Amino acid sequence: MLQTERLGLRPVNRSDIDAILALAGDRLIADTMISIPHPLTPHDVESWIGSSDTETTHTTNRHFAARRNSDKSLVGVISLRDIDHEHRLAELSFWIGRPFWGHAYATEGARAVIGYAFTRMGLNRLQAFRMVRNEASGKVLLKLGFREEGRLRQRVVKWGVFEDVVAYGILKADVADSGAA
Ligand SMILES: CC(C)(COP(=O)(O)OP(=O)(O)OC[C@H]1O[C@@H](n2cnc3c(N)ncnc32)[C@H](O)[C@@H]1OP(=O)(O)O)[C@@H](O)C(=O)NCCC(=O)NCCS
Repeated sequence: MLQTERLGLRPVNRSDIDAILALAGDRLIADTMISIPHPLTPHDVESWIGSSDTETTHTTNRHFAARRNSDKSLVGVISLRDIDHEHRLAELSFWIGRPFWGHAYATEGARAVIGYAFTRMGLNRLQAFRMVRNEASGKVLLKLGFREEGRLRQRVVKWGVFEDVVAYGILKADVADSGAA
């Protein structure tokens, strides 16, 4: 369990399915998430849960449900995906349900997951990707200390259209240098 000022984060489990479907089933979430299909089905959510293993060192994904301390509402999910133990890196991705946007929950939750990845999992690098038009995500990533590393042309197809993606990275040393770890 990771604890921040306003959020508690723990691995997703079956008790999160209904809340995840209600929030991430919103077309606006799928609109800028490379990895969320629309419509979203219970089977899709169950397969994330099945792919999220909390304790072994061989897992490939780790999805954290972020719940608000004040009322236990699920506000979103923050994930470490494609965890690569050989090169000690993973992809950070996140979504926050539309009713909860604009409260800096993404920044607060992701910061805790980054700390966990570098200090508890021993990772050295995290990468993240956002569509060019997703300015909110770009702001979150810069606030977290990620640096822009380049533009991947027509990297994804969304709603049948190729879109460019901006790639970001953050190193354990970047966080240590900022004094935040
Ligand atoms: C991107 C997302 C995670 C942001 O969540 P959030 O909790 O509202 O994020 P924060 O409040 O921490 O920060 C959002 C920042 O973007 C800004 N922002 C919000 N909407 C914006 C927009 N349309 N254009 C530009 N900036 C925007 C906010 O003002 C804030 O910046 P600030 O701190 O300088 O004021 C959320 O909008 C979301 O889940 N979107 C759909 C899924 C998604 O795109 N996930 C990321 C995939 S890479």
